[in-house]
Amino acid sequence: MNLTMINFTAHGDSRGQLVAIEQLRDIPFEIKRIYYIYDTLPDVRRGFHAHKKLKQVLVCTSGKCKILLDDGREKKTVMLDKPTEGLLVTGCIWREMYDFSPGAVLMVLASEYYDEADYIRDYDTFLKCAEENATGE
Ligand code: TYD
Repeated sequence: MNLTMINFTAHGDSRGQLVAIEQLRDIPFEIKRIYYIYDTLPDVRRGFHAHKKLKQVLVCTSGKCKILLDDGREKKTVMLDKPTEGLLVTGCIWREMYDFSPGAVLMVLASEYYDEADYIRDYDTFLKCAEENATGE
């Protein structure tokens, strides 16, 4: 599984830092939705789903958290701990988010509006989708 990290430029000066993110420039899709996860308790693990069509870039704008990515053949864990770094997730990938530090904010830039029909929440169904993806069906 190839992981794609996107680096954003920090426009820092004596006042602090600023990051700007532009669709189709910094993000390889049009951004239809932004959501963020915060106030997460230390032992919480969330996600546990894949998407059929959705593309996302995950940015931990404050604090840190871990993302488990699973393509059905291989699992990888990514630590997100920089507001200047985004993790691109496309295709049929199972994801779990965990180990949120106190005060962590995980921002997600998404290519589609919220649509429950795009979710695959059953792991066995995900494995079938992942296999179809891998064999190009
Ligand atoms: P959920 O899918 O459980 O979050 P996670 O993937 O982090 O486990 O979403 C939590 C709730 O928020 C659920 O009721 C659906 C709702 N929700 C929206 O209304 N819009 C959205 O864009 C998202 C991601 C979730």
